[in-house]
Amino acid sequence: MVRISPSVLSADFAYLADDIAAVKEAGADWLHVDIMDGVYVPNQSMGAPVVKAMRRVNDLFFDVHLMCAKPSWLIELYAKSGADLITIHVETESDKTEEILKDIRAKGCKAGLALDPDTPIEEVLKYLPLLDLVLVMTVKSGLGGQKFRPELLSKVEAVYEEAKRQGRNDLIIQVDGGINPETIALASAAGADCFVAGSAVFDKDDYKLAISSMRAAAEQNARA
Ligand code: DX5
Ligand code: ZN
Repeated sequence: MVRISPSVLSADFAYLADDIAAVKEAGADWLHVDIMDGVYVPNQSMGAPVVKAMRRVNDLFFDVHLMCAKPSWLIELYAKSGADLITIHVETESDKTEEILKDIRAKGCKAGLALDPDTPIEEVLKYLPLLDLVLVMTVKSGLGGQKFRPELLSKVEAVYEEAKRQGRNDLIIQVDGGINPETIALASAAGADCFVAGSAVFDKDDYKLAISSMRAAAEQNARA
């Protein structure tokens, strides 16, 4: 099943409620919420109060991507603020990854684990039984609007193959960074089924067209 998750990072923060209502209306499956702490990544975005406010006015599935050096203390906060899925980075608090992933599920959310371009895929694969989603970053995390790096597709293939080997047909394989109608086809062919897109949705005038053309490209190229 193809899921398109527009990234709020590229939305108009001055008209956030309107902009996220518009992507829902345009056919978004999920809403990708990028949380940047200015420590793990050299950028800041928004915090839990904004997620809570968005939750009040929108019932999309909130896919919260924590780019934060200390995610352990944030799980309860974001779960309470309305996250449906929380993804942490394997590079952060790596001695506590198992504990944090268990905590995410215990708080009633789906659990995701992300990895940045320089991190080997094996770091993530060892946690597969604890995961609902693996997020393969296709750019270095921290900034919207970067160029997709096709050399990272081999990681998507590795996750797909390992999930298949373990009989994990339910595992969601997400890609994030530089996704557009051309690159989504490559990521889908490699085995991804959940696609984050910031600028390729919010920078367009017609959100519906942006989402439907990406969905069509992903479906046409989906890995068998
Ligand atoms: C980057 C964020 C992405 C970003 C994607 O660190 O995790 O979610 O918003 O933006 P685009 O689709 O413009 O590359
Ligand atoms: Zn993201």
